[in-house]
Amino acid sequence: MKSIVERILFPRININKDLLVQKLQQKTIVITGASFGIGEQLCRQLSEIDCQLILVARTTEKLLKIQQELQDKPAIIYIFSANLGDEAQLDEFISYLKQYSIDIVINNAGKSICRPIMHSLDRLHDFQRTMQLNYFAPVKLCLALIPQLQKNKGHFINISAVNVLLAPTVYWAAYQASKSAFDQWLRCAEAELLMNDITISTAYLPLVKTKMIEPTAAYKSMPTMSRQQAADHICQLMINHRVYYKPWWAFLGQIASVIFATSWLRLTQFYLKKK
Ligand SMILES: NC(=O)c1ccc[n+]([C@@H]2O[C@H](COP(=O)([O-])OP(=O)(O)OC[C@H]3O[C@@H](n4cnc5c(N)ncnc54)[C@H](OP(=O)(O)O)[C@@H]3O)[C@@H](O)[C@H]2O)c1
Repeated sequence: MKSIVERILFPRININKDLLVQKLQQKTIVITGASFGIGEQLCRQLSEIDCQLILVARTTEKLLKIQQELQDKPAIIYIFSANLGDEAQLDEFISYLKQYSIDIVINNAGKSICRPIMHSLDRLHDFQRTMQLNYFAPVKLCLALIPQLQKNKGHFINISAVNVLLAPTVYWAAYQASKSAFDQWLRCAEAELLMNDITISTAYLPLVKTKMIEPTAAYKSMPTMSRQQAADHICQLMINHRVYYKPWWAFLGQIASVIFATSWLRLTQFYLKKK
């Protein structure tokens, strides 16, 4: 049953592999958060192309394993271990990138936290660390790479969440606020960046089956997109340079979020009282 719903909600797309190769051949692509989940999958798919992939994440052993497994593929893979939520390590990564000529940046590293506000009264650090990784890190990375992206008529792709476009979800304040913050930042910067020859795209992804959603029991029975599909949508953005990808049904959610904003709030309160 779940798979029928999934097929309707997340129809498969066919990537034109020749076109993807044409677009990415000889390009240098940075993928943040490339050790697991969507980032890892994307790296595996792009490794079939003659390009340079620069992978960054915290888990060194996993990055080494990916690099080793893909050593015979056409792509050349460089790895860098860093906690991008740490200002000094982010600076080191930015300095490391100076030796390359970057064409595409996939801002994918992300941290999610699902926690009631009433359990967060002494946990300001939850809000600080999500903002640090999901907002300040991509802002700093983007600012640092603008000159290179401008020179190369490059592309900055942000991996966001469809929830950013919808009514807020209870318990997700830290995550959604930080994802929304960067989404808003990028949308404000977009016109200027376009005028400077930098293409901007955002993938507003729905639930994707990765370790990020494992701790949330409620998600176990929910329809999810596969990692491969998520990576396919990112590849599609690299081909068509569209402003965004969002699931076909997102516009219905956006309309409902406006029309039923008050009802949604009441429904959420009802759910919380019943729990
Ligand atoms: N899964 C979903 O349902 C979903 C839905 C919408 C949007 N997204 C977005 O998709 C992106 C990828 O998520 P995912 O589902 O693939 O999650 P994931 O499997 O948990 O992967 C997250 C990646 O980010 C890296 N990362 C986390 N903290 C980091 C840090 N401080 N510094 C550097 N790298 C860090 C992780 O590597 P290390 O642990 O090795 O550092 C890992 O490679 C995120 O931006 C997320 O917000 C996910």
